[in-house]
Amino acid sequence: MRVKDKVCILTGAASGIGRATAKLFFDEGAILILSDIDEKGLNETFELLGENNARVSIMKVDVREPDEVKEMIEYTINEYGRIDVLIVNAGVVRVGPVEEFPDEDYDLLINVNLKGTYYSCKYAIPHFKKQKFGSIITLASVAAHIGQVNHANYCSTKAGVLGFTKALALDMAPYNVRVNSVSPGATDTPMLQSDVAKQAKDRNVDYEVVKEEFEEEGVLGRWAEPEEIAAGILFLATNDASYMTGADLRLDGGWTTR
Ligand SMILES: NC(=O)c1ccc[n+]([C@@H]2O[C@H](COP(=O)([O-])OP(=O)(O)OC[C@H]3O[C@@H](n4cnc5c(N)ncnc54)[C@H](O)[C@@H]3O)[C@@H](O)[C@H]2O)c1
Repeated sequence: MRVKDKVCILTGAASGIGRATAKLFFDEGAILILSDIDEKGLNETFELLGENNARVSIMKVDVREPDEVKEMIEYTINEYGRIDVLIVNAGVVRVGPVEEFPDEDYDLLINVNLKGTYYSCKYAIPHFKKQKFGSIITLASVAAHIGQVNHANYCSTKAGVLGFTKALALDMAPYNVRVNSVSPGATDTPMLQSDVAKQAKDRNVDYEVVKEEFEEEGVLGRWAEPEEIAAGILFLATNDASYMTGADLRLDGGWTTR
């Protein structure tokens, strides 16, 4: 049990990488505060955990709303008195050429991926500073490291997450709090599936054609399962990563090594 009785907050727990992370952390004994904007998906994640789930709380939280994020943090402190691990995972993708990109999609990317990361950390930081321990893990992406066609706006938010994480690691080091990011490559979740479906539609080609292109980006020649990303998140949460801070764990099947 690698995170037994560790108090772990996870955003974006209703789907994909977040759901797989919730399951892994639950199996490893964590006390979980799971949140998402999608209440139905969150309930499904909760159901998936099975029995002995008294140590799991679920909360509908929109990471774009500071008051909701604050409430999630305050609930955790009131209930458990500490935060051992904060996993800032909630995210969205929108793709398209910059000159045709709807401004509301741009705002959504910025508000969820960047501002949501900022709010999630902002309200937790005073508690981390006071307690002088803990681990913060953000979700960057291969898109933070390399360009992807029609992904300029998504890439900019993930590069922003990477910069935020590195800078925050410096601020939190004197308080014995580690701050790291994970950069997944193509991971088989509803987010990637919708991304591929849109590109296939826009280019008027089959879904499988675009899927194969994504598979070939990584040298392993396949997509990741969300559980493989969850395993990296767990590593960063534990003492196995005790000397890692300001780092980015690239779980991209070799995509960025080409
Ligand atoms: N799937 C990939 O290939 C991939 C690659 C690199 C990075 N990522 C990153 O990993 C993270 C998880 O992605 P995923 O693939 O599991 O996607 P997903 O769409 O399956 O899950 C994302 C979750 O975030 C939630 N969410 C969206 N907006 C929210 C909001 N305003 N407030 C709270 N929750 C909100 C969604 O409801 C959903 O449950 C994201 O940050 C994503 O950018 C994914």
